[in-house]
Amino acid sequence: MNTDTIIKVENVHVSFWQNNVGVYSIKDLITHRKSPFKSKTILNNINVEVRKGESLGILGRNGSGKSTLLRTIAGVIRPDHGTITVNGSFAPILAIGAGLELELTGYENISMLLALYGTRRKNTNAVENIKEFSELSEDVLRMPVKQYSSGMIARLAFSISLANDSDILIIDEVLAVGDQGFQAKCMEKIYQIKAQGKTILFVSHFPDDVARICDKAILLEQGELIHSGNAIDICNNYRSLF
Ligand SMILES: Nc1ncnc2c1ncn2[C@@H]1O[C@H](COP(=O)(O)OP(=O)(O)OP(=O)(O)O)[C@@H](O)[C@H]1O
Ligand SMILES: [Mg+2]
Repeated sequence: MNTDTIIKVENVHVSFWQNNVGVYSIKDLITHRKSPFKSKTILNNINVEVRKGESLGILGRNGSGKSTLLRTIAGVIRPDHGTITVNGSFAPILAIGAGLELELTGYENISMLLALYGTRRKNTNAVENIKEFSELSEDVLRMPVKQYSSGMIARLAFSISLANDSDILIIDEVLAVGDQGFQAKCMEKIYQIKAQGKTILFVSHFPDDVARICDKAILLEQGELIHSGNAIDICNNYRSLF
């Protein structure tokens, strides 16, 4: 592997068991000869290489496998075959709210995740920084996360992932649910992080944002990587899908 390669995804294949029959009773499970579960290929033979300091955009329709690819890179999902090599650290908050415990309050989630990442020991202001960036009020942070709006969840999740001073920043549609003020603030933060030479994996349905932030991009279609290259070209490929 090249010394400045930070992420290498080689021949990765992921499949999930899916049930399109609905709820199955125990009796059905025992008496039904055919299993209601079918294996579905979600990612097929994916190859991606990201170098240190590069920003990779990941584009594709709903259900094309973008979040699954991020989760696989982060080690949350194990591929059926293929290898993933990561030469850096990242905060494993992926999709909006993934990693957050919905029954716990905002504050409890912050404490839990900071402890998990070992951030608190290194940065005593971490809680204050998260509070400030998220702009969530005391009252909101004392509420269980299950009572949050999707924008509030995005604010909390993104602010916690920023507190972790990791080499790789993973952003999965954070900008989509934030309001205009938060979007602008996130964009500014993303530029700062990019200027610090960190690596960014950026999933978005907005090609203009991908073209602005990313150096290169990939386009997924039904679990296949159909285009890879310069971000501006891949954004045009994405637009031509619709
Ligand atoms: N835990 C799971 N079990 C079974 N199938 C799953 C699971 N998670 C995702 N899938 C399936 O994997 C496919 C890809 O999902 P994924 O969330 O990666 O898509 P996506 O590109 O991120 O979509 P979106 O733009 O809507 O966020 C979908 O068909 C989805 O139904
Ligand atoms: Mg997704």
